[in-house]
Amino acid sequence: LKEIQYEKDLAGKRVLVTAGPTQEAIDPVRFLTNHSTGKMGYALATVCMRRGADVTLVTGPTQTEKPKFVRMIPVRTAKQMFDAVTEHAGDQDIIIKAAAVADYRPKYQSDEKVKKQDGELAIEMERTDDILQYLGDHKKEGQYLCGFSMETEQMMENSRKKLKKKHLDMIVANNLKVEGAGFGGDTNVVTMITDDAEISLGKMTKEETAAHIISQILKEQEKRK
Ligand code: CTP
Ligand code: CA
Repeated sequence: LKEIQYEKDLAGKRVLVTAGPTQEAIDPVRFLTNHSTGKMGYALATVCMRRGADVTLVTGPTQTEKPKFVRMIPVRTAKQMFDAVTEHAGDQDIIIKAAAVADYRPKYQSDEKVKKQDGELAIEMERTDDILQYLGDHKKEGQYLCGFSMETEQMMENSRKKLKKKHLDMIVANNLKVEGAGFGGDTNVVTMITDDAEISLGKMTKEETAAHIISQILKEQEKRK
């Protein structure tokens, strides 16, 4: 049993992970979403569970096999994810936000199917709440906050800005244009960024990536004590 082989270095810790995309409805038939499959977040949840943590996983809709032995909270919209995360955030030691949350949602959702007409269609969009910004603004004493950042250009610069603005302890950046990184695949290529360090991991499985991220977080939490 793989579950019992691991060093339980997360025993006694509560970890909240978010994963997957969100879906924002236009009408009962259509929604806006993104390419997230939840694999990176599920790998993080699995690794944390094996290492002894009490894991809560807030996940958008995915086809990926669900991790075992974690508290699953399925959500669909950015609003639902915000509510689920803020409800459980208070007593978490570590929060890792791997979800690809919609930044905008349709301002109006039609109760009926939108019928096509001649000419173009414009959909008015409004901003969703930034969950991670909220968590950073309301961070609990000792809580470790890790975000993810997906970029296609100026990865380091843009990610550092997010680290600072959202008051994160770490941001894990990946460049969608690098081979073996990003959506869907079983591998990733990431850089862990903190205030005073940048650690680049080579191409490896998402589970291996997750293990490195968790070890680094633990190391930093220990350092602070
Ligand atoms: N995030 C969030 N709530 C949102 C949008 C993003 O919690 N409404 C989180 C993501 O889960 C991720 C981090 O913020 O951990 C960075 O997401 P990303 O999309 O890379 O950055 P944004 O701040 O949304 O900026 P932009 O999309 O413009 O690059
Ligand atoms: Ca975004």
